[in-house]
Order: sequence, then C-alpha cells, then structure tokens
Amino acid sequence: MDFQNILVEKKDKTAIVTINRPKVLNALNHETLVELGEVIHLLERDDEVDVVIITGAGDKAFVAGADIAYMQNLTAIEGRAFGILGNKVFRSIEQMSKPVIAAVNGFALGGGCELAMCCDFRLASKRARFGQPEVGLGITPGFGGTQRLARLVGPGMAKQLLFTGQTIDAEEALRIGLVNMVTEPEDLMPKVLEIANTISQKGQLAVRLCKAAVNEGMQTDIDRGIAIEADAFGLCFSTSDQKEGMLAFLEKRQPRFTGR
Ligand code: CAA
Repeated sequence: MDFQNILVEKKDKTAIVTINRPKVLNALNHETLVELGEVIHLLERDDEVDVVIITGAGDKAFVAGADIAYMQNLTAIEGRAFGILGNKVFRSIEQMSKPVIAAVNGFALGGGCELAMCCDFRLASKRARFGQPEVGLGITPGFGGTQRLARLVGPGMAKQLLFTGQTIDAEEALRIGLVNMVTEPEDLMPKVLEIANTISQKGQLAVRLCKAAVNEGMQTDIDRGIAIEADAFGLCFSTSDQKEGMLAFLEKRQPRFTGR
C-alpha cells in the first residue's frame, strides 16, 4: 500500500495505520481523508488482518484536527462536502467488520478527537490531550463530534466540552469514559498491540458479530437489541469456530480458530 499521508504496517494479524503529516500535527486535509478511506476499504478485505490500530506520526500528536489552512477559504458548499467526506470515512471505520483501536499518542483535537471516537475504543498515552475546540474557530465539529461525544460521555459533559472548546488531559478523558486506559508514552503501542493480539487469538467471526451487535444495539431499544444478539448467537452455531472453541474447552487445550 503506497500512500502520501498515511503509513500502513502489519504486525502479525494487526495493521497499524499511522496518519503521517507530523509537520502539521497530522491535521486531516482532503487527500488524507481520501487515503484513509481507501486504506480502510483495503484492510476490510485483507484476510491477513484481524485488528486495525489507528495512531499519529511523531510524539506530539495523534491528529490535531481537520486542516485549518485547507478549510480557511472553503465556501458553504465546499465546507459541507468536506464534512460529508470526513463523516463518510469515519463511519466506514465505525462500520468496519474488524475491531479498530485508537492509540492516542498526543493531541486529539477536533477531527482528531472525532477520529478517535469513531474507533471501537481508545487507549491514550499520558501525553494525550482531547477536545473539540471548533467553536473557537467559529465552526461546529464537522466529523461527528456533536454526535459521538454525547453518546460516549453523556450530553452534559459533551456540551460543556463543545461549548467551551476546553482541552482535557488523558486522566480526565479516562475519568469521563472517553478512553479505556492511560499508559506511559513508551508503553502505549506495546499495550495496544497486546490487546490486538489477544483479540486475534479469539474466534474472529464471533468478535465481528460482537462489534456489529453492540453497534446496532446502541441505536435501538433493548427488545430489538436482544433480538439482534439472539440472531448473532444463533449464527455462531453454524461456524467451525464454535465447534472448535467448545471442543477445545472440553479437551482442555487451546482452540485453533480458522475464522470459518
Ligand atoms: N490544521 C492545520 N495546521 C495545524 C493544525 C490544524 N488543525 N494543528 C496544528 N497545525 C500546524 C500549525 O499551524 C503549525 O504549523 P507551522 O509550524 O507551519 O506554524 C504546526 O502544526 C505546529 O503547531 P503549533 O506550532 O501550533 O504547535 P503548538 O505545540 O504550539 O500547539 C496545538 C499545538 C495546541 C495542537 C495547536 O497546534 C492547535 O491548537 N492546533 C489546532 C487545533 C484545532 O483547533 N483543531 C480543530 C480543527 S477544526 C476541525 O477539526 C473541524 C472538524 O471537526 C472537522
């Protein structure tokens, strides 16, 4: 995979996608978003990949937002199209069948916080800083911030962060439930890779059905959510992974899953 603004590296069954514009703190311009969309599309179909990690190049930023220099002179029509592009790419990450983990190594502001939020979960280094500072630029968040932040941390906390544009540190992000874990900077990628590796060793069809069931269930009422789970649970019994997983347990050995 050859991209100008993104690096893709594979380790075992994990793909590490790095937004690579460190001179502008990995700000997202049009080209970077298009490339990110293409990468996600390719990784969805890559049978060698079970888990995707998204991070930022350098030791200062995850992503410091959408590219302000690029946005400065956009017309309303162009601004709307840019928002739709970002939302389309971020939704494709959210809807990818495989787990996607954000490794937040520094500033995750505006579009960067939004990128982290469309991932399945977030781990942060102590250097990470989160926020939606858009109102300070005279705009609203444009890549899902008003929607996902409220869903993740509740409307009251989301509104405080959105209205003030305040930046919070990693410990505060942990306290409000925006991230799952905070590590020393040098421990972040090893820890995220360890979690990715743990996921890779499970039955991948079951992992993907878990993701789909949570995502779909969060958008509906509990009765419909339970019906979604019942369908997923039933479907598992048509797979070799279920036969192997249960046989391995009963034979007191590690399962050898094939993802079938
Ligand atoms: N867009 C374009 N360039 C950016 C950028 C961004 N979002 N963030 C940083 N940069 C550039 C800076 O302009 C600077 O470039 P030069 O060296 O050419 O001057 C370079 O990255 C380094 O940044 P700073 O010198 O500002 O670094 P700092 O350590 O002093 O500050 C920072 C770091 C607090 C993150 C600061 O850069 C900052 O506030 N960045 C903007 C954050 C922001 O407002 N993000 C939201 C953007 S709007 C958005 O994302 C809309 C949406 O929802 C889609």
